[in-house]
Amino acid sequence: MTMKMFLFKIKKLLQHKLLNRNPMKKLSIILVLTITAIISSCNGVKREPGSIYMPDMAYSRAYESYADHSNLTEKGINYTAMPVAGTMPRGAEMPFHIAQDAPGDTTNYYASRAVKNPIDSLSKTDNDEAERLYLINCGICHGKNLDGNGPLWKNGDGPYPSAPKNLIADPIVSVMPEGQMFYSVTYGKNLMGAYASQLNRKQRWMVIKYVKNKQLAAKAAK
Ligand code: HEC
Repeated sequence: MTMKMFLFKIKKLLQHKLLNRNPMKKLSIILVLTITAIISSCNGVKREPGSIYMPDMAYSRAYESYADHSNLTEKGINYTAMPVAGTMPRGAEMPFHIAQDAPGDTTNYYASRAVKNPIDSLSKTDNDEAERLYLINCGICHGKNLDGNGPLWKNGDGPYPSAPKNLIADPIVSVMPEGQMFYSVTYGKNLMGAYASQLNRKQRWMVIKYVKNKQLAAKAAK
């Protein structure tokens, strides 16, 4: 029985059986009983651990991949351990070797212009996927037409405090090398957050190729 139910029952008992006359008396008795119950139930000494329903679910007994398995290694058992430093998953894009600038510095931001997009072109399927990723992650600010006027901005009426760049018409961004876009999308730029935790390297390069293709198409249409 929980504490709440216990108190409720006492209250009901008092109300029905003992006291029907003096409301002040009734109140003070209820108060005294409540306080006694609270005080007697609060006690720093824990005598028993709380019971756990299905402890195997609360505390996994299984060996997890990529955890510390030094106890197994000691016994000569080699279970999936942490990957060797410097290795990468099969099929992943090569790491971006340019680190984030210290605040106020722009050296690496400009150095990133030289980094080539490892993805040369997008197949129809890849383009659909890149568009999907763009619409989920970027469109809310930069707009589905890449014009910097997504629902969060709405010509300045939206809740976002800073104008997202018009990826097609902005004089700087429309000719921005893909490596530099990758830098900004990976580490963030002013009020735009970093997307490294939402999109993996390959997905970021795909989205950037998608943006670059749209920029080139807009220039060609002029
Ligand atoms: C929450 C709103 C928001 C989202 C979502 C967002 N951006 Fe931005 N983006 C901005 C703002 C604001 C700027 C202007 C930053 C500045 O220079 O002050 C910007 C700038 C940029 C720039 C120019 C960067 C530079 O170096 O000048 C690029 C490229 C860009 N965004 C691409 C993307 C891509 C690709 C995505 C999706 C992965 C994305 N953005 C998602 C708000 C957003």
